Amino acid sequence: MRSLLVIVLAAGEGTRMASSMPKVLHAVAGRSMVGHVLAAASAAGAASISAVIGPDHDAVAREVHRMVPGADVFVQHERRGTAHAVLAAREALAHRYDDVVVMYGDTPLVTSETIQSLRTPLAGGAAVSVLGFRPASPFGYGRLVTSNGVLVAIREEKDASAEEKLIGLCNAGLMAFDGQIALDLLERIGDANAKKEFYLTDAVEIARELGREAVVCEAAVEDVAGVNTRAQLAEAEAILQGRLRRLAMEGGATLVAPETVFLCADTKLGRDVFVEPNVFFGPGVTVDDGVRIRAFSHIEGAHVGRGAIVGPFARLRPGAELGEGVHVGNFVEIKASDLAPGVKVNHLSYVGDSSVGANTNIGAGTITCNYDGFAKHRTTIGANAFIGTNSLIVAPVTIGDGAYLATGSVITEDVPADALAVGRARQVNKPGWAARLRERLAAGIVPKG
Ligand code: UD1
Ligand code: MG
Repeated sequence: MRSLLVIVLAAGEGTRMASSMPKVLHAVAGRSMVGHVLAAASAAGAASISAVIGPDHDAVAREVHRMVPGADVFVQHERRGTAHAVLAAREALAHRYDDVVVMYGDTPLVTSETIQSLRTPLAGGAAVSVLGFRPASPFGYGRLVTSNGVLVAIREEKDASAEEKLIGLCNAGLMAFDGQIALDLLERIGDANAKKEFYLTDAVEIARELGREAVVCEAAVEDVAGVNTRAQLAEAEAILQGRLRRLAMEGGATLVAPETVFLCADTKLGRDVFVEPNVFFGPGVTVDDGVRIRAFSHIEGAHVGRGAIVGPFARLRPGAELGEGVHVGNFVEIKASDLAPGVKVNHLSYVGDSSVGANTNIGAGTITCNYDGFAKHRTTIGANAFIGTNSLIVAPVTIGDGAYLATGSVITEDVPADALAVGRARQVNKPGWAARLRERLAAGIVPKG
């Protein structure tokens, strides 16, 4: 097995995103672009991953470490070109891994398979392997100059001759190098070009001058498209959603209207999960086998246990933990709460910072009042309890197993197991009162309006 170093370039902005956030932190399918690139590098089995970031990009460094805790982060202090950026990771290159793959932080569609196919020629003795593709418009890309099928040079747009500009095969921006000579190649690169930059792409010609071979691997546009604008971000999102939906269906989930279901890069759907139209999954969702997610539900940071039913119009927020067979119905919001197996919360409720024991029924309109304006407080409800409709449960409070809350109660004190708690005024009937009022109104005794 050849060892692999991946260097992710994320320093240069050169962006048209009109954003206060570094470009590579913009998300596609709920994960930052640089996060996708790092995930692909990890999946390719990289022994070491380095990210090159710009000065004052602490947020990028944090995201890199969140995705790959062991990654090395290097800062490129001046933006002097892609080869200059790679050399910021000189320390990592000096370890002379067998293969070095350079990726750009703004190409979120690259997969580990693409990385592997790019490495294959290195094992066969090539010094440089370049990922080529044929974009609809080659403008702006480096053109791959070939002669009899052999890669001779990469010519950047600004340096290309009229003839070279006609070449449709372009540099996608993913390059692999023989790790034994990568550092030597990079150090030979100069900045005598239209942009006065150190071009990584010059490594092709230099390798050939040293009598080594450079090759092209071709990839589909959908696997390599880069993102420079919000419109391209949306195009990448559409491509990635298509992939994630296909994977979910291959894994045994039914998506009735796949094009209306939005998945996250890390969404896990079990077998025989049935997803109705218009459902949104944010980060950190695991859905076990046999669950039904009904239409218009919004789910993030949640675990849904086997056979549960969620929605329609349900919202599961981070920390929602639904046990087997739980029912969460329409206009119900669950946050940071454990619902044990068999719990039912079917209508118009908010359950937050709570734990609810098995088979408890939570009636329509129940609210756990978890926030006093300063801190959040917990509600603990036992098993087999019955929470009457329209109850307000003012936390912190504990309701015992088998307890019964009278409809419309405001619960501020703990309720013992198997007790009935009535937290509301008693009903008073006044016979004939309404009829007498109407008579007095009709006689003008009580002023109208
Ligand atoms: C580059 C390639 C071009 C290829 C295109 C694909 C070079 C010289 N050209 O051109 O052949 O077709 O990508 O999209 O490599 N970066 C740094 N520091 C720098 C400069 C760049 O970190 O000093 C990073 C950027 O963040 C970006 C990547 O390198 O992720 C590419 O830089 P960019 O300026 O976009 O290069 P292109 O002109 O697009
Ligand atoms: Mg670019």
